[in-house]
Amino acid sequence: MSKTAQIKVDDKEYVLPVMVGTEGEKAIDTRTLRATSGYIAYDQGYGNTGSCESSITYLDGDNGILRHRGYPIDQLAQNSNFGETAYLIIYGELPNPTQRRTFGDLLRQHAAIDPQMQAILQGYPKSAPPMAMLSSLIAALAAYYPHLATNNFENDLKNFDLAAAIAISKIRTLGAMIYRYQNGLPYNPPKDVPFCDNFLHMMFSELYKDFVPSPEVSRALNTLLLLHADHEQNCSTSTVRMVGSSAANLFTSLSAGICALSGPLHGGANTAVVQMLQSIHDEHDDGTRFIAAAKSGSKSNRLMGFGHAVYKNFDPRAKIIAKACDDVLNKLGINDPLLAIAKNLEQAALKDDYFLSRKLYPNVDFYSGIIMRAIGIPENMFTVMFAIGRSPGWVANWREVAANPKGRIYRPRQIYAGPVKRDYVPMAQRG
Ligand code: CMC
Repeated sequence: MSKTAQIKVDDKEYVLPVMVGTEGEKAIDTRTLRATSGYIAYDQGYGNTGSCESSITYLDGDNGILRHRGYPIDQLAQNSNFGETAYLIIYGELPNPTQRRTFGDLLRQHAAIDPQMQAILQGYPKSAPPMAMLSSLIAALAAYYPHLATNNFENDLKNFDLAAAIAISKIRTLGAMIYRYQNGLPYNPPKDVPFCDNFLHMMFSELYKDFVPSPEVSRALNTLLLLHADHEQNCSTSTVRMVGSSAANLFTSLSAGICALSGPLHGGANTAVVQMLQSIHDEHDDGTRFIAAAKSGSKSNRLMGFGHAVYKNFDPRAKIIAKACDDVLNKLGINDPLLAIAKNLEQAALKDDYFLSRKLYPNVDFYSGIIMRAIGIPENMFTVMFAIGRSPGWVANWREVAANPKGRIYRPRQIYAGPVKRDYVPMAQRG
């Protein structure tokens, strides 16, 4: 007999089914609780709520484990690249040579941006936040490809391969296009080169004469994007699923994910980390002041790049990216003072009881900004890079929602805490 859980409330007992995932994670299925007892499960911020079943990514925050479709993140970072990992995340298996070629061809064929769409960008002030431009341009894809974005799961799934390739390829091109626009440079059309090299070309060619990315820079970018490719039910991915659950098309759902990612507690943290390291550098501080301020408990003084909603031991991506950071800086002969500051800060925090007792460790963002600086990516583009990296995860999650015949629209409940019923007061009687 399968296991159950009992909840006793108002002297009545309710029996609820228990679910167990393939890696042994356990959940109590509370879906019937409201109908049978009148109670809902309260979980502000959904920190203890399983909102879906998913076969894409397994994350064990207590033990620092991250696996995509079963493959450990360190093995993927070591042996794979962003394109192959994107395929794995979206389609569930590592591609064979033909599948890899077909996927790569689709990405290459759809890398360019339509001149009309280029013109949309010209309508924005040059100083506009890149993530605001990116989210609106990704939403605009639904207007350019209405046949791929019908807001009907069955139709949209028929064209999924094409829509997915357009989304992943164009988010990268749009990122580069936004950067060039902000720097007063013309759009650089894509070339027939690998995914990451193409991004670097679209960003930097003509800016640096005869620009050819070094293998080290190419590899660092691949690692960076690969490490961000998916991360189960985080704020932006759950947003993509939530918007997608209304049968909204892939592009619209991705655009919502980009908006969710733009906040400093999520995708914006990498920018905040570099700003923090820069301030420490500029003030000739050794980080003591920042650590002391972070311990005050104020949200605005947090040590950026530290702590994670799920990892309470270490972030496996942080270990990989810290090493990648060392490698790329060494190979390029760059001596970035911010790296030394980051390492000192990490050492100091990891000896401090405040951080130890709260299980606060460096997360992926603690070092990702330093890699991006080494590649030549400016600070205001950091979160755009995160979005490009995360696009396969969003696409795969949207597809799971769209392909789930038993799926329902995401519609949480709330505990109302406002005024109880009162009668309308005419304007003349209001003080
Ligand atoms: N610096 C100082 N104190 C912290 C920090 C920090 N970075 N993070 C959490 N705390 C404290 C917090 O004040 C609380 O203390 P107390 O128990 O005394 O009230 C305790 O640690 C637990 O914090 P929490 O708010 O319950 O933690 P959370 O799991 O809800 O938040 C977090 C996770 C990532 C939002 C948070 O750690 C944070 O703000 N970190 C800095 C921002 C950052 O680096 N974000 C990137 C996350 S990784 C990228 C991604 O996957 O999106």
